[in-house]
This record gives sequence, structure tokens and C-alpha cells, in this order.
Amino acid sequence: MPLLDILCFPDDRLRTRAKKVNSLTLEHQKFIDDMLATMYEAPGIGLAATQVNRHERIIVIDVSENKADPYCFINPEIISSSGQETMEEGCLSVPETYAEIERADSVVVRYMDRKGKEQTLETSGLLAVCIQHEIDHLQGKLFVDYLSKLKRDRIRKKLEKQWRQKL
Ligand code: NI
Repeated sequence: MPLLDILCFPDDRLRTRAKKVNSLTLEHQKFIDDMLATMYEAPGIGLAATQVNRHERIIVIDVSENKADPYCFINPEIISSSGQETMEEGCLSVPETYAEIERADSVVVRYMDRKGKEQTLETSGLLAVCIQHEIDHLQGKLFVDYLSKLKRDRIRKKLEKQWRQKL
């Protein structure tokens, strides 16, 4: 299974708004397997198609301890949310950067699973936070967008310096 390249902030392609998946193909199934392999290898607990430069509404998540409970959400929409929770977040597209972000604690998400079946999931805690973070990616939004411009610019400069050193 080929691993996919992950785009990194401040790459403009991360700002693309993903399009709805109208019909699931065999090629999508392969892509979802590649996304999961890429996420586990990274390692990370969530990955949005946007992060691998494919602009369709697909996300994968696995918040389990033993990495054996993968979720795939296609065309996910949060239909209700409640409560507040602050968690320290990171992102495979913003390496080695963590910040406390406030989000809803519980969400109800409607989506299509990888078999093409419509599903509704009500969840809270880490999985709910992760779903919100990944859906943001599909809208071209990153967790650093919740920080002040000053902090975001500092992160951008730090990462750009790292890239230059790697060239
Ligand atoms: Ni992310």
C-alpha cells in the first residue's frame, strides 16, 4: 500500500474546500486504505483527504489504543453539537506543534460509511474533537486558525525555517 504525501502548513493547497463524494468507487476504497496506512505510519489519529491533496469529503480516524478501530467518514456533516471541551491538539500537517483548542464536547455526525451506508453517530470526548478537527480540514481550516495571528505567524516561521534546513 503506497503511503501518501502529507501537505504541511502553510501550503495553500490545505486551504482548498473539498467536494462531496457522489458515488463511491473501487478506487475510493483503495484510496481509503492508503489514507489509513498513511495515518497509522505517521503516526496520527486522524487524516483528512485534503491533507494528502485530494479534495473530496473523506476522513479517517482511529482513536483506539491498539489502532484496531478505524472509522471512515464520507461526506460528514455535524448536525448538532453541545458542551465545551478544551484539548491539546496537534496535526500531521503542522508538525511538532501543539495548542489547546476549545471545541464542542459532544457531536452528532451524519455521514456515509465506506460501504456506502448512511450512518449517524453520537459521540463525545476525543473522538468528537477529532471529528471536528478533521471536518475543519475539509473546509480548508487548520487548528492554528483558532490561535492569534501572532502565534500562527510564529508557528509558520518556525516550520518554514525547518523546511529550509531540510532542503
Ligand atoms: Ni489535522
